Amino acid sequence: MDLYRHLKGLAWGFVQGTGDEDVFDPAIHLSYVPPERKFTMEELQLVQSETASPIAGTVPFPLLSTEGVKAYRRAMFQQDVLNHCASSPFPGTLVLRDAVRYSKFVRDFWTHPVTLRIVSEAAGIPLEIIMPTEIGHTNIQVKGSTISEMKNNLTTEPTLERVILSPEDREYDPLKDASAIIPWHYDSYPYVCVLMLSETDGMIGGETYIKRGDGTAQKVEGPQIGHAVMLQGGEVEHLAARAKGVKERISTITSYRSRHPTVYDSSFMTNIRPYADLNSLYPEWITYRLRKLNDEITYYLNRVEKEPQFALDLQSLEDLINKQVSYLQQTSRQMIAPGFEKELVERFGKPTYYAAPRIWETVQSYSEFEILAITADDKRLWLPNSVYWMDLQNSIESIRLGKPLGGVFGRRIWGGRRYYMGDELLRQGLNELFLDWLASSGLWKIYCESET
Ligand SMILES: [Fe+2]
Repeated sequence: MDLYRHLKGLAWGFVQGTGDEDVFDPAIHLSYVPPERKFTMEELQLVQSETASPIAGTVPFPLLSTEGVKAYRRAMFQQDVLNHCASSPFPGTLVLRDAVRYSKFVRDFWTHPVTLRIVSEAAGIPLEIIMPTEIGHTNIQVKGSTISEMKNNLTTEPTLERVILSPEDREYDPLKDASAIIPWHYDSYPYVCVLMLSETDGMIGGETYIKRGDGTAQKVEGPQIGHAVMLQGGEVEHLAARAKGVKERISTITSYRSRHPTVYDSSFMTNIRPYADLNSLYPEWITYRLRKLNDEITYYLNRVEKEPQFALDLQSLEDLINKQVSYLQQTSRQMIAPGFEKELVERFGKPTYYAAPRIWETVQSYSEFEILAITADDKRLWLPNSVYWMDLQNSIESIRLGKPLGGVFGRRIWGGRRYYMGDELLRQGLNELFLDWLASSGLWKIYCESET
């Protein structure tokens, strides 16, 4: 099994939790019923790229039984997991990451061949988990203003405590309130499975919207307790509506890529770099990327040996090698040196890091924008010897040739104004470097002054 090989090859060892965990048993803990409906890329009028499955996403489908939900919650709320994996990005929200290191149940559930078959069927393509750190990323909304208060309010038994909704809450339309939703975005990884661990009776919101090719929004209901949804979040632009009306909301998320050796994945570490332990994340990342490339090279080596005419198909070979070069480059660019990364995230702050694309939109309206951005790039005011200047030139050349640019915002043909280093760094999901470039250009200073 590929994933077991993947887990075994990692630089860290699995630490047995000391809590009282259930032993994962598909017969007890799963309650799978295939999704009643799948949304295809075609029906949403979306262009299917060569790296994509024809399936954009599914409606919610039952995955965990009542016993399974309780066992999962028990595993996540054991002391070892809470002590090592919890952080709080803002009051009322607790995030658990890397639980797979301390919970055998969580690891066994997500990596079980039956579970992998279920998510692969739902996505319409054989899937492999991206890397262990992306198993069971858990978002918890629970009462409490400190981590310890929130931890104390977690119970194995799902609670159904409703909040009285105001008339405004009932009228709430996430598509009309850009400030109150998780905005339109692409995920950092190609495929995602979102599993609900809380009661959702009485809840309003919590659904996902997919942007269709014609610009309208396709609503996908949020999952009920024990249910999951699959989404091709790396290729499909989507937004998640806020949930209202319940006190506790716990969802757990695992990210995937295609297992097929010839299908590239477009993963980025943008969303996780600021809060991950880079000394454990980077070994996982490089292991998965090199293994993926290794599988690909082995596949083509076998083909070349079996089909001598393929070795003379120069166009195909050139395309293949170009893709591998860019895959390796992306692998390297995503790994910003830990010391530099820490310095930049501390300097600008995490909220600013995540707001970088919005800040870029804002500064473009300034009268000084063009002159400062042009000067910054023409004079190479930012890290003049870095590899990113070569990347910028390559992107400018692609634009000249009318080729689409891929990146964290999907694949786009560039049109309109000049393409700056700011565009290049954001395309690669390097928000911290973008902010550093913005500061070198002088635009950051104007932004700060105008915001105060
Ligand atoms: Fe997402």
